Amino acid sequence: MMARHEASQGSRASVGGKASAKARANIALAKYWGKCDLELNLPAVPSISMTLDRLVTETSVEFDPYLTRDEVRLDDRIARPSEARRVVALLDRVRAAANSTLRARVSSENRFPTAAGLASSASGFAALAGAATSALGLEWSEARLSRLARRSSASAARSIFGGFAELPAGTPGDDRLAARPLFDADYWDLRIVVAVAAEGEKAVGSTEGMERSRRSSPFYEAWIADAPRLAKRVRAGLRARDLEILGEAMEQSTLAFHACAIASNPGIVYWRPATLAALQTVRRLRDEAGLSVWATMDAGPHVKALCRAADRRKVQAALGRTEGVLRTLSARPGRGLEVRL
Ligand code: DP6
Repeated sequence: MMARHEASQGSRASVGGKASAKARANIALAKYWGKCDLELNLPAVPSISMTLDRLVTETSVEFDPYLTRDEVRLDDRIARPSEARRVVALLDRVRAAANSTLRARVSSENRFPTAAGLASSASGFAALAGAATSALGLEWSEARLSRLARRSSASAARSIFGGFAELPAGTPGDDRLAARPLFDADYWDLRIVVAVAAEGEKAVGSTEGMERSRRSSPFYEAWIADAPRLAKRVRAGLRARDLEILGEAMEQSTLAFHACAIASNPGIVYWRPATLAALQTVRRLRDEAGLSVWATMDAGPHVKALCRAADRRKVQAALGRTEGVLRTLSARPGRGLEVRL
């Protein structure tokens, strides 16, 4: 078995091979913000996420002996140099592991509902890790794929797994860190309702935002010190299927990381007026209508509300009516990485 795999691996690494993979975006319930090792891309805090069913990226990779350089297409356009560099860095790691010098043709498409306003680096690098390794005949475990995806984008480590996953904090210098699955997609029928608060790309990317926070925010140390406690509360809420415990810790995690980013120099303010309006809608639904609904925001202006499946319609309608909210969409817990040869 081993010998056969090695043989096929050897031949694919020299004559080429093709694979495609699907991975889905995830929303951090306990946020990752801050790195303890920039070179190895290791998070300074533990994070916990829910993988989302409808937000799929599909990526195909073909290693071709006739190519002289890697070709990268994203959503049917040629990737910008900064995007291509991150893709090539992952391909280089896979080539080194497979002992191959072949160049690849990469094509990645976000099958997100139109302009969901959600970042696709998590689903993108998770899908790329799956497709690139399989295309060269490497049969890696989910943990190893998660490690590979983590080097490119730490949140991508979590998208290897379906349902709910955790990425522990890293140890500087130790490249082995991977996410691990906590619960399957059918563990708890929750919904995320996304309220899209603005068009366009975010002003400050997460890698830069984290580094600026580390260098200049007086609240950075406090955030790093408190994040493990919040992750523990989120984990406890998930384990007990207790939405109050989970939601309260989730909101605190997002507000604490945003407070840390806002206090950087220059300040990083991801919010727009519609972000605060949506946040208020969520609080009103909780305080006045008695719904168990909680909000979280990533490195961008959109508000993602977490609620039970039974409350989804009410939450989506209220957010849809909120001033400045452009549109809404909802998602449920989704599957992990799927690879096809
Ligand atoms: C706010 O995973 O995009 O969404 O590792 O630098 O690529 P890099 O950062 P990235 O950061 C995600 C930050 C976040 C919170 C989260 O998803 O945990």
